[in-house]
Order: sequence, then structure tokens, then C-alpha cells
Amino acid sequence: MCGIVGAVAERNVTAILLEGLKRLEYRGYDSAGVALFSNAGVLERRRRVGKVNELEQSLAGEPLVGRLGIAHTRWATHGAPLEHNAHPHFSSGELAVVHNGIIENHEPLRDRLKSLGYLFTSDTDTEVIVHLLHHKMQDTPDLTAALKATVKELHGAYGLAVISAKQPDRLVAARSGSPLVVGLGLGENFLASDQLALRQVTDRFMYLEEGDIAEIRRDSVQIWTAAGVSVEREIVQYREGAEAADKGEFRHFMLKEIHEQPKVVQRTLENRLGPEQVLVQAFGPQAAELFAKVRNVQIVACGTSYHAGMVARYWLEGLAGIPCQVEVASEFRYRKVVVQPDTLFVSISQSGETADTLAALRNAKELGFLASLAICNVSISSLVRESDLTLLTQAGPEIGVASTKAFTTQLVALMLLTLSLGQVKGTLAAGVEAELVEELRRLPTRLGEALAMDSTVEKVAELFAEKNHTLFLGRGAQFPVAMEGALKLKEISYIHAEAYPAGELKHGPLALVDSDMPVVTVAPNNELLEKLKSNLQEVRARGGELIVFADEQAGLNNGEGTHVISMPHIIDALAPILYTVPLQLLSYYVAVLKGTDVDQPRNLAKSVTVE
Ligand code: G6P
Repeated sequence: MCGIVGAVAERNVTAILLEGLKRLEYRGYDSAGVALFSNAGVLERRRRVGKVNELEQSLAGEPLVGRLGIAHTRWATHGAPLEHNAHPHFSSGELAVVHNGIIENHEPLRDRLKSLGYLFTSDTDTEVIVHLLHHKMQDTPDLTAALKATVKELHGAYGLAVISAKQPDRLVAARSGSPLVVGLGLGENFLASDQLALRQVTDRFMYLEEGDIAEIRRDSVQIWTAAGVSVEREIVQYREGAEAADKGEFRHFMLKEIHEQPKVVQRTLENRLGPEQVLVQAFGPQAAELFAKVRNVQIVACGTSYHAGMVARYWLEGLAGIPCQVEVASEFRYRKVVVQPDTLFVSISQSGETADTLAALRNAKELGFLASLAICNVSISSLVRESDLTLLTQAGPEIGVASTKAFTTQLVALMLLTLSLGQVKGTLAAGVEAELVEELRRLPTRLGEALAMDSTVEKVAELFAEKNHTLFLGRGAQFPVAMEGALKLKEISYIHAEAYPAGELKHGPLALVDSDMPVVTVAPNNELLEKLKSNLQEVRARGGELIVFADEQAGLNNGEGTHVISMPHIIDALAPILYTVPLQLLSYYVAVLKGTDVDQPRNLAKSVTVE
């Protein structure tokens, strides 16, 4: 989603801002812009619809030079992706703002500011901020003080940065609901919505907290809380992330991240497994005591993370006998929820900044849950900070918008949760934990075997290149895997894909099946296999082409219209993790064949920080 970069230095900052924007490209955007306090002593800006490259080319032709600047990648919410809606927005040529989030009271503010004579040049909610700030500065000339007064009138979510032609010694920023981080340099300082944007200039960061206002000068950073109290925020040295910077030998980040799965699954397991048991303390020192009290689990997440939660429900109920509900965060947060006594609230999120998931966690705190646990990939995220317990997935930075390694590491974390709860409560069947711990240790090797099928899957992808619709089928814990497979395909190849529990086939989707609609199925060798085989017959009888990822021992063979891709045998409980891999590869290769923008699919964002 939108990205912010800012810099105040003694050198020209244009290249720093552009590099920062490029590093944020993965988040998804549709236009980009930069504003600088130029050496001529005025604010100048350049904005372009499309990629940061377009902006860069324009700046190469006609450079902007300055030592103070802000830049932005915009993902349209209010107002179409057109140049006049791209940030930075100006007021009276004196102030420039970039903003992530949504100002909910923009309409009354706009009316008021118009009646005060302000001219609006965009359709965005953002523009009210800069005019309101300009208005405030008539009575409160100090930029920082005026920003403090301005944010008091804003409702909604924002991470914003402002520069002023009249006070070009600083960059000011405010955070409420949308993350911001200050990057500390030597005689120069920076700001961004994600520390990845600043990795080329510093590894020392200060994370703004909710309600913080920051005044960033070349040689100092001052921060105030929403209540106006001056505070110091901890300086964090950030070492993770270097490996994310380039694609290495891979053509796309997504393919690189798919291939990283054995390594990151290994990392997610590290220090969390004893000889025959999961180490419950991995969830925090008070986890064992808390887990003993848990009688129910409520999982909340969005997108791919929601699918991980759906798999976990099969595990929590099937292995640990603990009742579990799973819901998408955008529904959970606005629904009247009845909370069963002693329910553990579990949020799952790669970024830890997804607006709906965060809001659901905040609601949960009012609803009387026993405790909150975040399964998250980002240690410094809002979700982690605001939860009672955390289990970090160790996927490393994920750049491809379509989530891959984050998903499989979430599944591993959720299996650790299932076994921990079952262990503490004594609800696991004899021998299950020891067996699964051993199988988890072998999982990275198994994932490596699944990845070795890369070229086989690439061939199968050819069957999809000309198709417009596909159906994904699975049963049991493979149903959410089918959902995730369908989501991946639609996200990056733009082919319409739907997932169904295979048993539901004859209740509707069978009407769609013909030779133009390939049907993808995941078929591990479990007690549902025979039932699944009947479902496959139903498809074949209607001329539907079948692509079946099947256990090598499942007894399924290639035939006319049936393409069987043999999968290494794996214990059934871990099959969802293994079977995800070929489905990721399938969508990847279909997208490559279709020539889409694999890492930054149209209209999507990596981290959805607005509702
Ligand atoms: C966006 C991303 C998805 C992700 C979802 C939830 O839609 O494109 O890949 O699954 O947000 O994000 P989270 O960071 O909370 O897991």
C-alpha cells in the first residue's frame, strides 16, 4: 500500500528518496511523487502515474535538487490514480504533505477549508491535511506546533510527513494507525513508512508509536506523544533484511521466496523443539500457565493469513481437541461477537500492520478474551507490540505481494501452537507429539523435495495459459490449501479461480465444469482419498481436465484428461504445508506465461494498512 520516504541532509536527497520508493514498490502502488525544498529556496515537486521508473526518468531528464524532501508511492483510495491525485500535495506553494491512511472527516474539513478560500486541486482526502496545517500556521507559525494542533482535528488513520518552504530546517511527521520509522544517520536523518526503504542509508531506527509527532532535523530528532509530552523512543539496530534486497539468481522475488521455504521453515522451528516435545516457552514465559486455562481458540486474520488460520482449525480440533473458530478480521471487527469463556484470541499476520487485523485485536481486548497471541513475521509490528504473547515466524522480509513463505511458516507456527496447547492440556493422543516433532524436523527436507518438482509444475502451467476459469478442490485440511492455491492463481495470473471442498462439487460448481475449466486437486493419501477419487470421476464424466497433486502412494495414475503429479509421501497432519508448494509454483509459472507483473500484481498491496 502507500509508501512514505523523507530525508533532511546536507547533500542532495533526490537519489535517496527514489531508492527508498523503489524499495517500497513491493507494497503495491499506482503513482509516485517527490517534493523537495530546492536550492532555489522554493518547494518543487514531480509526480507520475505508474511505476517509480517513470518518475525517475522524468527526474533524469529534468532534475530536482534539494537537501530536504519527501516522497510517496500512492495506492488510490479517494480519487482515481491520476497525476493530480498523486502525493505530495501542496498548500499555497509553502507546504507539502505525503500521507498514508484515510482521513475519515475529510468532507466537513474540505467544506470548511473551501469556505476559508483554499483551492483544492485533487480528489484526495489527504489534501485537507495540508490546507488545514497552512490555516493553523496563520495563528501558530511554528511548523511543529501547528502540526500538533492540526492532527487533533483529523479522524481516521494517518502516517504523514510535511515540509515547509518557510522552515526548511526540518521534516515533521505524525503517526496514528499507519506506521512510521525515523532512520538515524550521521549529520542527516530520514523518515519512512517501512525501515526497508532506508536500509541503504542507515541501520539505526526509531519507531514512532501511536499518536507520536516527530520533528526531524539534520542533527536532532524530537518526539512528543499525543498528549504533548516529550519522549525518547528506543534506538533499534536492524540487521535483518539484507538478504531481501535482491532477487539473486531468481527472476522474481516470488520465486526466490518460494525456494527459501526449506530454510525459513527450519528457522521457524529452531529452538522451539525439544527431543520429543514442542518447547511451550517459545510462546513466552507465561505461556504454559495461560495455555492450561485455554478452552477455546478464536483465530482472526486476512487474506493468505486467514487461510493459515483455517488449516489450524483442523489441527486444533482434530489433534488437540480444542474448539476453534476462524474469521476474517474485516467481519470479526464489525460483528457482535459472543466470546466463550477462556478463549485465546490468535491473530495471524505477515506484516503485523494489517488495519482490519489490528482493529480486531483492539476490539478483542474489550471483549473479554483470556489473552491474545500474535503469530507474526515482523518483530517490531503494532500487532506484536499490542499482543500478550507472540510467536514470530522467521520467514525474513517477504517482498512478493503474493504471500508464499510467510504462509508456510505461519502453518509451522500454528502446528507448534496446536501441539503446545495439546501438550499443556494433555489432550493429544499418545505418541502424536513425538511423531510430529520428528516429522517437523524432516519438513525442510520434504519441502526441498517438493521444490525439486519445479520444472514438472512449469510444464503443467501450460495447460492454464489460455484458460479464464479454474476450480480448486480439496477435502479436510486440504480445503484451505485449495483456497490458498486459488487465491495465488487469481492474485498473480488474473485467472478467475474458485476453491471448493470437494464434497460440495455437486451442489453447484459442477455446473461450470467443461473442457475449458481445469480442475486442480490436492490428494494426500488419507482417509478422505476414496471420497476424493469419486469427486474426480464426477469431473472427468463432464469432460473436465484434472490436475491432481497426489501422494505417491495414492494409486492415482495419468490418463486421458487427468494429469497426476506425484508428491513425496508425508504424514497427513503436515500435508497442507507440503501441498502448498506445488500450488505456489503453479500460479507462479502460469503468471510468467501470461506475462503479468508477478511481484507487484495490479490493484493489490502487500500490507493493507487502510480498511
Ligand atoms: C494483503 C496481501 C496478502 C496478505 C494479506 C494479509 O492482501 O497482499 O498477501 O495475505 O494482505 O496481510 P498480513 O500482513 O496481515 O498477513
